[in-house]
Amino acid sequence: MRPSIPCWAVVPAAGVGKRMQADRPKQYLPLAGKTVIEHTLSRLLQSGVFQAVAVAISEEDPYWPELAVSRQPGVITAPGGKERADSVLSALKALQGRAAEDDWVLVHDAARPCLTAADIRHLIDVLSQDAVGGILALSSHDTLKQVEGDSITATIDRKCVWRALTPQMFRYGMLRDALLKAEGNQAVTDEASALEMQGLQPKIVEGRPDNIKITRPEDLALAQFYMEQQQ
Ligand code: C5P
Repeated sequence: MRPSIPCWAVVPAAGVGKRMQADRPKQYLPLAGKTVIEHTLSRLLQSGVFQAVAVAISEEDPYWPELAVSRQPGVITAPGGKERADSVLSALKALQGRAAEDDWVLVHDAARPCLTAADIRHLIDVLSQDAVGGILALSSHDTLKQVEGDSITATIDRKCVWRALTPQMFRYGMLRDALLKAEGNQAVTDEASALEMQGLQPKIVEGRPDNIKITRPEDLALAQFYMEQQQ
């Protein structure tokens, strides 16, 4: 069922994924019979939550037009940008005239193919009445160390540190304006950081640990394992 306030999905998919050391961007690597990005998009589309999904794709990307999902109704293609934040802003601009200022936007990495419908709905349920929005995140189970060079300089209280995941859920107009103000700032590595720079305090919502980001070659086998467990 669609939420009462319209929700839109934005998928930055214009990265090259150097750490995978593969012959193509990581979102096009094979995983359980499909490419990584096909899994990600089918999970968003099948959730039944979104009005449309805007996907940011590099203009030199030969792989995207080959996928049937690129022509699927409800999938909007936008040009990717230099940094992740530029790609997200470009996808938001592609939604201009369709999304209203107070509609929700859930930004989700193309490289996180194990996202569950349960996590999408949980995030929306917790935040739908919130003034700012927030993100899925994971608490830290390990003891955390602050380090300089190879020496420990402090032990950090792990209750204060969470790992940011996606989706990250914000109001369309507020997110667009925060990203516009932060343009060119390298410290904006996720959407929440752009809102934080405006003095706002996004919420964290505990997500599932199987919502991994494909970053290194061994992550593909782990993602396949999680997908089998989820069935
Ligand atoms: O490189 P990293 O894993 O942090 O990228 C996260 C997501 O942002 C990926 O889905 C990637 O394709 C996307 N991205 C993008 N435009 C860029 C850089 C990364 O859409 N310029």
